[in-house]
Amino acid sequence: EKGGYDHFMLKEIHEQPKAITDTFRGRMLHEEKIIKMSSIENHLDKFLNANRIIIVACGTSWHAGLVGEYLFEDMARIPVEVEYASEFRYRNPIITNKDVVIAISQSGETADTLAAIKLAKSKGAFVYGVCNVVGSSIARETHSGAYTHAGPEIGVASTKAFTTQITVLTLIAMKLGEANGSLAKHTFENYISKMQLIPRQVEELLKIDDKVKEIAEVYKDAKNCLYLGRGFNFPVALEGALKLKEISYIHAEGYPAAEMKHGPIALIDENMPIFVIATNRGHYEKVVSNIQEIKSRAGKIIAIVTEGDTTVKEIADHVIEIPDTEEALTPLLTTIPFQLLSYHIAVMLGKNVDQPRNLAKSVTVE
Ligand code: M6R
Repeated sequence: EKGGYDHFMLKEIHEQPKAITDTFRGRMLHEEKIIKMSSIENHLDKFLNANRIIIVACGTSWHAGLVGEYLFEDMARIPVEVEYASEFRYRNPIITNKDVVIAISQSGETADTLAAIKLAKSKGAFVYGVCNVVGSSIARETHSGAYTHAGPEIGVASTKAFTTQITVLTLIAMKLGEANGSLAKHTFENYISKMQLIPRQVEELLKIDDKVKEIAEVYKDAKNCLYLGRGFNFPVALEGALKLKEISYIHAEGYPAAEMKHGPIALIDENMPIFVIATNRGHYEKVVSNIQEIKSRAGKIIAIVTEGDTTVKEIADHVIEIPDTEEALTPLLTTIPFQLLSYHIAVMLGKNVDQPRNLAKSVTVE
């Protein structure tokens, strides 16, 4: 049932090229250069006339929501807020019938997310679900929605659900951007061509497993780690840290790279591994200068860079290369090395990868 893999998590990491392709299927028509999503088309006026989109979710799904915020604002110029479902529901939030709420949940059963949906509906908002489990409570409770076609995710640490959630959010952002004219035709079509390449690029990236294993071997005994990223990759830093915490029980924190000097920099010494996303688009020079600051404090740097990078390679202790793509699509690639890294560290430390202590696959109590 694990398809020859030692753990479900590793199997699910390797299923991502297929999961992303399945999530595109019937929606992103590469030849015709169109995105067809009846769940959006049938409610287009709701999205296009919305005052704002509020994304509610928990855990990894909340991280996908944060990527969604960058995608929607960048591609469709619609204001977005991303909320932890548990905070949103108890905050007496201001919601009107001009708001669109997007709830993201792999299981479709998360208690706080479900309660947030019910609250939003009671205030007249239009609620759209992004779920993986067909027929789940959240899928049934929402007005409309799109499934992520990741297939069953058994490992408690979410992997393929995350990348397929980002896939769906990217398709929606592109669709809305095209519909309201925020995305020029050539930009929209370029995104389609680049999206089409992603599954193959993920496939390529999965081959770096041995390299990631070497890095895992060096840092597996760390007590604390920092994950840094900017822009579209700030949420990926949060997700990288969550994966490490969950399955290896190593304390890790994700931060927007520029926030480092507002506090966390005090933690840096020669024992602190710092995982930095430094792909070559958007904010590259800024991230390079963040890396230099870390280096001058003797921190160990493991950087994710775009293939062909030379600048970061000279400064970092280790680099992992990802294939080139548009900045907005990089989260689908930068996430992969972090998943593999957490997996290998947890295995090396002898932890229960698929069923980490204290965690349940779906949190149906608040
Ligand atoms: O099923 P959901 O997506 O609603 O679950 C939300 C979180 O409980 C979940 O993402 C959790 O954080 C995972 N263990 C992350 O790996």
